[in-house]
Amino acid sequence: MTRFNIGVLGCGNVGAAFVKLLETQTATVERRTGIALQITRVAVRNMSAPRDVDVAEGILTRDAFDVVADPDVDIVVEAIGGIEPARELILAALANGKPVVTANKELLANVGAELYAAADAAGRDLLFEAAVAGGIPVMRALRESLHGEPIRRVLGIINGTTNYILTKMTDAVDSGGDADYGAALKDAQSLGYAERDPTADVEGFDAGAKAAIIATVAFGAKVVAGDVYHEGISAITASEIAIARRLGYVVKLLGIVERDDESDEISVRVHPTMVPAQHPLATVRDSFNAVFVEGDFVDSLMFYGRGAGGAPTASAVFGDVVDAAVNLRAGTHGSLGELGKATIRPIDETSAEYLLGLDVADQPGVLHAVTGVFAEHGVSIRVAEQEGNGPDARLVFITHEAREKDVQSTVRDLRDLDVVLDVGGLLRVIGD
Ligand SMILES: NC(=O)c1ccc[n+]([C@@H]2O[C@H](COP(=O)([O-])OP(=O)(O)OC[C@H]3O[C@@H](n4cnc5c(N)ncnc54)[C@H](OP(=O)(O)O)[C@@H]3O)[C@@H](O)[C@H]2O)c1
Repeated sequence: MTRFNIGVLGCGNVGAAFVKLLETQTATVERRTGIALQITRVAVRNMSAPRDVDVAEGILTRDAFDVVADPDVDIVVEAIGGIEPARELILAALANGKPVVTANKELLANVGAELYAAADAAGRDLLFEAAVAGGIPVMRALRESLHGEPIRRVLGIINGTTNYILTKMTDAVDSGGDADYGAALKDAQSLGYAERDPTADVEGFDAGAKAAIIATVAFGAKVVAGDVYHEGISAITASEIAIARRLGYVVKLLGIVERDDESDEISVRVHPTMVPAQHPLATVRDSFNAVFVEGDFVDSLMFYGRGAGGAPTASAVFGDVVDAAVNLRAGTHGSLGELGKATIRPIDETSAEYLLGLDVADQPGVLHAVTGVFAEHGVSIRVAEQEGNGPDARLVFITHEAREKDVQSTVRDLRDLDVVLDVGGLLRVIGD
């Protein structure tokens, strides 16, 4: 029997659930792998804080650097979060020959390339299944099962808070109730799905970090959080959701990563998106997550499950720890390989179908004037509808695939038309 000692950095939601899971599963892992895993050190910030798990005396410490330097610790789990000191701790652990498992999306989306290179230089694993979509094993699928697949695009519902809010708003529209964003956010906060300051979730930063990591792994290129274009959900209105529903769509916040074969450019963006009601992503409700992968050979795949929460995230951490242990015993390690420089396609150069709603004056010739502006910018219209009559008339358009730059110019010129009273937000549409 091989024995490995684990040092855990952080004993909060994820760290504590990992400690619990390891306690219950050590015998199973021993039987399946011949490796006995035990936690020998746990680093926290506040030694006297109440914990969800009992950590035996002598194991708890306030000195995380001592854990990563401890010659008796074989594998390190980083569940502290944030960039520093997590980055320094991981670099130190790797330099000391210890494989590292981390759940830290913020860290990887900002300085991942430095850490992957350090892991390769040390000949040790740096595994991070839990950093993207919590308990859903999508990193392993991209790194291993789909290693040789020409991946075209990945679409992800990768933030449970926003999916919960949009689901509540959609259900309210469907039942004729009050689909207020503020009320849905409050509901999410009372259930613990949203933080008191929800900015990172609702403005798309959390999903953006995950999208950067997905793009890095899917395309083998260095994509960082700063490369990601974001739009959040805080400006989504009940009226936009109602229009989407009537036209056969569901509004979802998607992280989208895409590579253009010809130019080799990568587009990475997070924005509210109209998803056709029959698309598998449209069925992903409440706080669930899903990642939809499109490849030239494999066609479409969807990975679905719990994208956050201590227990699902700890499940992903534990799977990585077992992998790291098996590799350590074999004297081998996984690698993302050499990551290329990413050429990021600016949002202006991306293409999509767009939904646009306009409040217009009640007078003849309005439709002609409005459609003329679309035509001037080469944006062709796939669906045109009028809602209401008289002073409340609203025109709703869905374009054919068009360049963002041309659509933005169209919107600018529409705002200048006297007959256009108000231009609603733009919603991008994905095809079936
Ligand atoms: N929670 C989720 O659903 C989820 C899902 C996916 C990924 N993640 C990622 O998992 C990581 C941990 O998240 P979490 O929700 O478990 O966070 P958390 O509940 O805030 O726990 C953080 C833990 O780290 C400890 N800590 C902080 N700074 C430290 C330091 N300098 N030295 C030693 N210990 C330190 C804290 O100690 P004290 O307890 O003493 O304060 C706490 O135990 C983050 O990177 C997060 O993004 C979380």
